[in-house]
Amino acid sequence: MAGDSITLERLKKNELKKIVDIMIKEFSKEPYNEKWSRRFALKYIKSLLKNDPKLFFTIKHKGSIIGFISGATYWFAHGKSCYLEEFVIEEKHQGKGFGSIALKKFERILKNRGYKVLELNANKKARSFNFYKKRGFKELPWVLLRKVL
Ligand SMILES: CC(C)(COP(=O)(O)OP(=O)(O)OC[C@H]1O[C@@H](n2cnc3c(N)ncnc32)[C@H](O)[C@@H]1OP(=O)(O)O)[C@@H](O)C(=O)NCCC(=O)NCCS
Repeated sequence: MAGDSITLERLKKNELKKIVDIMIKEFSKEPYNEKWSRRFALKYIKSLLKNDPKLFFTIKHKGSIIGFISGATYWFAHGKSCYLEEFVIEEKHQGKGFGSIALKKFERILKNRGYKVLELNANKKARSFNFYKKRGFKELPWVLLRKVL
């Protein structure tokens, strides 16, 4: 089964550099155009890991890292909830169904751990927006606001 070649695994210390590389590279592209320094990207990944280590997974294909997925736990009226912080597959591995399998596996882990809801922010200009909508995510009336301080 195709799903068997994709695994979600806890991050090992020597894999941190690869995760930082993937993040910097994939989010430097359209429509994100994010300019991450290595220092800040490392700080960011470490903060995700520290915040909720049990919800940070490398995504591996036949044992090699092709991306990562990470969430944060919060409690709300609907119960134990997960906010999807990051989800990325390296470009050369995109469009092969690996992201769909990884997301399904992540959702199954959450369900097994008693989570009721998975929420995320998606950029409407990104291909991932329709990816999420086709996989059961619904738009909410909430809008992310930002004030530069
Ligand atoms: C979003 C993402 C994680 C999905 O992973 P993926 O392995 O590409 O996902 P899949 O192959 O299972 O599905 C991708 C969909 O896009 C289509 N697609 C085709 N070529 C593609 C390509 N080169 N890249 C991405 N998607 C492609 C696929 O056909 C599929 O369409 P479908 O929704 O009609 O099934 C991945 O594309 C990615 O990392 N994108 C950049 C980072 C990003 O946007 N992350 C989400 C932030 S919220």
